Amino acid sequence: MKERIEALMAEIESLKCRKEQEIEEARVRLLGKKGEITKLFEDFRSVAPEMKREFGQKLNILKNTAVAKIEELRASVQESASAGDSSFDSTMPGDPVAIGSRHPVSIVREEIVNIFRKFGYDVAEGPEIEDDWHVFEALNFPPEHPAREMQDTFFISASDNPVLLRTHTSSVQVRAMEKMPLPIRIVCPGRVFRNEAISARAHCIFHQVEGLYIDEGVTFADMKQAILLFAREMFGPQTQIRMRPSYFPFTEPSAEIDVSCNICHGKGCNICKGTGWLEIMGCGMVDPNVLEASGIDSKKYSGFAFGMGVERIAMLKWQVKDLRNYFENDMRFLKEFETFI
Ligand code: DAH
Repeated sequence: MKERIEALMAEIESLKCRKEQEIEEARVRLLGKKGEITKLFEDFRSVAPEMKREFGQKLNILKNTAVAKIEELRASVQESASAGDSSFDSTMPGDPVAIGSRHPVSIVREEIVNIFRKFGYDVAEGPEIEDDWHVFEALNFPPEHPAREMQDTFFISASDNPVLLRTHTSSVQVRAMEKMPLPIRIVCPGRVFRNEAISARAHCIFHQVEGLYIDEGVTFADMKQAILLFAREMFGPQTQIRMRPSYFPFTEPSAEIDVSCNICHGKGCNICKGTGWLEIMGCGMVDPNVLEASGIDSKKYSGFAFGMGVERIAMLKWQVKDLRNYFENDMRFLKEFETFI
């Protein structure tokens, strides 16, 4: 009997249960009607009288230990169950669901267009396959201009008015001036093509957004303000712009626009190559020759135009270092722009 008591004592002390059901099973096995301890009490009756005192004590201790252990196990299982309950926070948002990704060029093009829409600009589009007139001639390109060479432009057919892939979206401003009533206030997003060797910094296909505003009395100051407001919407309210004199055949005067670097805020970093400024677009007052070529009275009307590269803006926004990422459909790149709901 002594050994059985000791063995059960050891078993009870090391008893571990994680569920109510396991505890109940242990209780029945030990203390139930046919349980081990109950049986020991029955056997106790036939113990020699001189041993009764010793075994009686041991048996009572064993039973009390078993009862206490069962209670202790019950309490700890209940406690962990209720702890589990309180750790469930029903106000937590659900797991995000990926609904696919939009192309970064589309995201930025839309952002640019929406900013100008807010300023009252309409959206105009034109064909990607264009004629020489709309891409060059009407935009005041002299006949010997290098853009008219095969090295820079993809020609589809050569004739008096060659057909080609447009090299810039400025062609859409010509189409707009030909057919839209004045005043004109438009942005023209679109794909353009240039005969360039593909590298991290150049591609034969890319995207531009052209802008055009023509009315009576439009000035250089209007242009500056429109571009400043755009830059602040696009890159943040602290953004500054600066203008550098430039040359385009279709604008006079012309300028190149830089925005203050939104990474280092002008201190100089490797994105702005230590200058604190990033080039974002070309612009200028529409050359009177260009207005006249499309039948607009340049004595009465004036206007400004600007053009920017969508990939360039996207590169600045997300610090994409290699232009080729935009065209290779590498899922690892595209997934970075994934949308979640
Ligand atoms: N068409 C020019 C280009 O492709 C960009 C540009 C510059 C457009 C100045 C404009 C402008 O309308 O005024 O590089």
